[in-house]
Amino acid sequence: MERTKTDFPVPAPLKQHGPARIITLCNQKGGVGKTTTSISLGAALAEYGRKVLAIDFDPQGALSAGLAVNTHEATTIYDLLLNGKLEPREAIQPTGVPGLDVIPANIDLSAAEVHLVNEVAREQALARVLRRVSDDYDVILIDCQPSLGILTVNALTAAHGVLIPLESEYFALRGVALLIETVEKVKERLNPALELDGILVTMFDARTLHSREVYERVIEAFKDKVLDTVISRTVKFPDASVAGSPITQFAPDHPAAEAYRHLARELVSRGAVA
Ligand SMILES: Nc1ncnc2c1ncn2[C@@H]1O[C@H](COP(=O)(O)OP(=O)(O)O)[C@@H](O)[C@H]1O
Ligand SMILES: [Mg+2]
Repeated sequence: MERTKTDFPVPAPLKQHGPARIITLCNQKGGVGKTTTSISLGAALAEYGRKVLAIDFDPQGALSAGLAVNTHEATTIYDLLLNGKLEPREAIQPTGVPGLDVIPANIDLSAAEVHLVNEVAREQALARVLRRVSDDYDVILIDCQPSLGILTVNALTAAHGVLIPLESEYFALRGVALLIETVEKVKERLNPALELDGILVTMFDARTLHSREVYERVIEAFKDKVLDTVISRTVKFPDASVAGSPITQFAPDHPAAEAYRHLARELVSRGAVA
């Protein structure tokens, strides 16, 4: 079952930055590693000299918390969605990782669904915001909330690519068909250029037959859309989020940090990131 693991070359430095390729991380199931991947991949890409903007698009604000970014009395993505007169750059906050910036979110974002319903072109609200900052970055990562509602549709409409973190559990596979159907619908109706960048297997436990069987099933079902990088289950991730620091800084030599660097190199090799 094991596919040959490739090591991908360290990407060459960029001579100039932007415009960004926008990647949405989504899966309507919670706890599959969307936020952890947004943070860790963003930090790994920044280590490779990419200018990265991470958008917290979940009212829970876990991405903001995981990068120790202030969400109170801060301009958030919610403010930008609803008020086109605000300058998006004013919402951008730096993080402890040079090259990785964040637009935060807080619980206010949970009201966005209700407000957007009455908007013209409500599916394009996020795309309108990101268009104004895109030139400053090489990649923008959108960390979605666990739902397929209007916010996720906005994220898919704004994106060039979708990255689907998938927990290696049998039950996790069930939701993916519905998710891919949603991606296809958005592609047909709103964003013809949208691509499936890959499915990332997370929470993998090499010691269990279960994990290996699920991985085999995922490969069977999604073939070359399954990324070569696999993220193992380790308690280092919750520890890093409590510390408000990405795994690449919290435990730089841990295999989990190296796994996200591997993912960064793979996405550059695949052309998903400059
Ligand atoms: N590979 C992993 N191994 C162990 N725990 C993980 C891993 N990835 C994420 N976690 C932890 O699992 C929980 C859910 O992850 P998170 O990234 O927040 O998922 P999502 O954003 O999809 O809801 C968090 O506490 C996180 O620290
Ligand atoms: Mg999350």
